[in-house]
Amino acid sequence: HKKLSTFPADFLWGSASAAYQVEGAPFEDGKKASVWDNFVRIPGKTFKGTNGDVAVDHYHRYKEDVALMKELGLKSYRFSVAWTRVLPEGRGAVNSAGLKFYENLVDELIENGIEPIITLYHWDLPQSLQDLYGGWESREIIGDFLNYAEILFETFKGKVKYWVSLNEQNVFTNQGWVTATHPPGKKDMKLFYQVNHIANLANATVINKFHELEIPGQIGPSFAYTPQYAKDSDPRNVLAAENAEEMYSHFWMDVYMYGEYPLAALALLREQGLAPVFEAGDAALLKSAQPDFLGINYYQSATNAWNPLDGGVGAASFNTTGKKGTTKESGVPGLHKKIQNPFVERTNWDWEIDPEGLRIALRRITSRYRIPIMITENGLGEYDKLEEGKVHDDYRINYLESHVRAIKEAITDGATVIGYHTWSYTDLLSWLNGYQKRYGFVYVDQDETMEGSLKRIPKDSYYWYQHLIETNAEEI
Ligand code: BG6
Repeated sequence: HKKLSTFPADFLWGSASAAYQVEGAPFEDGKKASVWDNFVRIPGKTFKGTNGDVAVDHYHRYKEDVALMKELGLKSYRFSVAWTRVLPEGRGAVNSAGLKFYENLVDELIENGIEPIITLYHWDLPQSLQDLYGGWESREIIGDFLNYAEILFETFKGKVKYWVSLNEQNVFTNQGWVTATHPPGKKDMKLFYQVNHIANLANATVINKFHELEIPGQIGPSFAYTPQYAKDSDPRNVLAAENAEEMYSHFWMDVYMYGEYPLAALALLREQGLAPVFEAGDAALLKSAQPDFLGINYYQSATNAWNPLDGGVGAASFNTTGKKGTTKESGVPGLHKKIQNPFVERTNWDWEIDPEGLRIALRRITSRYRIPIMITENGLGEYDKLEEGKVHDDYRINYLESHVRAIKEAITDGATVIGYHTWSYTDLLSWLNGYQKRYGFVYVDQDETMEGSLKRIPKDSYYWYQHLIETNAEEI
C-alpha cells in the first residue's frame, strides 16, 4: 500500500498474562491445587524443576503492577482467573476470598483507566476435577465449566466487557494428550480428539450462556494460529501445507466459526478410527454458538514439505534447550513434514520470527470467517540481561514494531482488528522453560532459584510501547 490506515481511536493497546504464570500464592486464601501445581513437581517436567509457587508474586503485588501499567498507558490488560481460587475443588461453594482477589484487580484496573479482559481458562484445571472424572476427558466438565463461567459473568457483568473462553485449546489438548508435555501427560490420539471435542462443546455452551444472559460485552476463544506455508511450488509440498492448515488451523477455527469440523480432516480421522464420538445434540450445539470475536495468539509461521507415508518422519519435538538450531525435523507421515524456513530469523528456542506471517494470518482469517479479530498474544521470548539497572531489549522492540506494522497493513487490507496484546506484561514463568525465557515489558528479578527479589524494572521496550500507545502507532 502507498498509504496505511490508522489504528481505530478505541484500539485496545494491551498486554497479557496467565494466572499460573504470574500469581504465585497457590494455596492462599482457600485456593486448592490445579493440575499445574502438581505437574511441575514431577521430576524432569520443567526446566530445573521451576514452578509457579512464587511466580512473580502478582497476587501480592498487583497494585504495583497496575500502577506501572497506568504509567505505560496500557488501554487493556488480559489476564486469566484461576478456577481453583473461585471454586477450590472446581465445583461447590464459591470461595469468596479467592474471588475477591479478582474483584480487587478488576476495580484497580478500571480505576486506572485500563480495560480488563478476562480469560476464563488458561490451562490450570482444578486437580479435584481431574481426579473425579478425568477433567477434559469427561462430558461432566461441560457443566462444571459452565457453572464456573456463570459465577464470573454474574460477578463482573457491566465491569468486564471482553471475555476469552478457552486459551489455546489446540495447544493444551495437543500438549496434554499428544506430546504429553503438559498435564495430564498422556499420549493417546483417540482420546486427544475426544477431549478436544468435549472442549468444543464446553466452549460453545459458555458462549451461548454469555449471550443468553445478555452480558454486555463480547466473548470469543483464543486460538494459537500458526499459518502454514509450503516449501515451494512442488504440488506435493503445497498439499503438505494444505494438510497442515486443515489439521492444525481449520480443525479448530471452523468449529468455532461454522460449528463444523473441516471435511478432509474428518475423512482422515474416520479412516483412522480417531474421529470424535458425537452424541445427540452435539452438532446442533456447535452450530448454535457464535463468538463475537476471534482471539489470535500469533508467534510464528511454519513451513511444510511432503512427508511420505512410508518412511516419513514422525513425532513432534520441542526445543526447550534455549539453544538455536537444536530443533529436530518432525511431521506426520503421509500428511506433512515441518521444515526450517530459510527466509526468516529464529529465536534461541528456534521460534521463527515472521511479522509478514501475522499479516497473512489476519488476511486468511478475514477472508475465511469475516469476524473481528483480537490479537490476544504476540511477543518474543528471549534471554534478557540486566545491565546497570537497565534492560536494552532492542531485539524485542524490533520484533514488536514489525508485528505492529504487519497489523497496520492487514487493517489497510480490510481486516477488522480490535486489539493487540503483547505477551507478556511482566516477565513470568514460561511453563516448561522457567524464568530464563523472558517476554515482558517489565523485567522481574526472578530466576530458577525462585528466590529473586521480585523487583520490577521497566525495560527499554516498556518506554517504546508507551510512546507507541501515545501516538497510536502513527509513526510505524
Ligand atoms: C502461549 C501461551 O502458548 O505461549 C502462554 O498462551 C505461553 O501461556 C506463551 O507462555 C509462550 O510460550 P512459552 O513456551 O515460550 O512460555
